[in-house]
Amino acid sequence: MRNIILIGFMGTGKTTIATKVALRLKMRYVSTDDLIEKREKRTINEIFTASGEDYFREVESEVIRDVAGMEDAVIDAGGGAVMREENMANFKTNGIVICLTADEEVLFERVKKYKHRPLLNVEDPKFKIRSLMKQRAPFYAKADHVIDTGRLTIGQVIDKIVEITGSGTSEKKE
Ligand code: S3P
Repeated sequence: MRNIILIGFMGTGKTTIATKVALRLKMRYVSTDDLIEKREKRTINEIFTASGEDYFREVESEVIRDVAGMEDAVIDAGGGAVMREENMANFKTNGIVICLTADEEVLFERVKKYKHRPLLNVEDPKFKIRSLMKQRAPFYAKADHVIDTGRLTIGQVIDKIVEITGSGTSEKKE
């Protein structure tokens, strides 16, 4: 089975959905953020604060090179991983890339209670979400499939992923 890679902005539900899809399809759940923290033995907040975002992106690319070589994995990719072409190319070598989306308001509601995302620990997270989403939209559009999670239940999103991965390209870019 090819890997299933979930990409998308922070708060689109990648972790929740990837965990459940892995259970349902009896695949392995892999989180790039978890692997980065394990490799670095510090949290993502600590990496950003002490070493900066560029360093974080380097480690992220190394981790993605490793996970691209795995099989039967549902990969929960950090929201910014798509910005490097090499990461996307690595994901696509042995996997189907699915982008989860939701509108700005939904994302803000989902992320505001958490503090583990350094990019959103700012004075005006709503503005930050808007500008990052705008900047990243062309990268997220490179996914093989896009699912808007805003109007769907978790169960419906999972069903769609199962359907997409079982049915090849019939639902491309709905
Ligand atoms: C980031 C998203 C985070 C994490 C880091 C940077 C981003 O992952 O990789 O805080 O640039 O969008 P999630 O999308 O899982 O929150």
